Amino acid sequence: MRLFLDTANIEEIRTIKRWGVLSGITTNPSLIRKENLGADLVWKEILAEVDGDVSLETTEPEAGAMYEQGRVLASYGSNAVVKVPMTPAGLEAGKRLVQDGIRINVTLVFSPAQAILAAEIGAYIVSPFIGRIDDGAADGMHALRQICEIYDIQAYETEVLAASLRHPMHVVDAALAGADIATLPFEVFEKLVKHPLTDAGLKKFDADWNELQQQLSGKKEGA
Ligand code: E4P
Repeated sequence: MRLFLDTANIEEIRTIKRWGVLSGITTNPSLIRKENLGADLVWKEILAEVDGDVSLETTEPEAGAMYEQGRVLASYGSNAVVKVPMTPAGLEAGKRLVQDGIRINVTLVFSPAQAILAAEIGAYIVSPFIGRIDDGAADGMHALRQICEIYDIQAYETEVLAASLRHPMHVVDAALAGADIATLPFEVFEKLVKHPLTDAGLKKFDADWNELQQQLSGKKEGA
């Protein structure tokens, strides 16, 4: 399962990139807004920083304008993936973009039925929003498992990207469900790497190592 970072913040991207586990980026209009900079500037900086896929989201509501915007976004870099929403206009614009050879990510997907539509237009990626399904007192992981199973049975080539992940167990369960990609916020990456037994183990190793050095230097002085 490839790991993407769900952010538009360049410092967060550089940090996770240094860890060697970053395969791509997902952005959305809310994440771009947080940066308080022009969207084009932010997108282009991210596309240049990251080798892997970077999803850039369309904002035009009508199919024609969304298609035109998608073509512009795709021209920003060979690693650009154009996000279209799961709406009739998103499907129409998305299908045209796919026919032009542009890779699309169908976003705001909340059900297996919607995921079937995304696969049928030849999307490169489908993004079910697990955490937001949970927020509505439904089972996001159950929806993800169904989508992965349907895609397997139907041999759809669209990659399943588990989105709106809120904690490490979401990531583990997405991997068990067979998701191709998981996108997570910076804070979840930080939680993934942490374990209290790692910290405790490291503290003990450090203490033993330092004690050994002291013993050895004491021996040297005594000799
Ligand atoms: C994915 O592409 C979305 O940007 C993201 O995962 C949404 O997550 P949220 O529900 O935490 O906003």
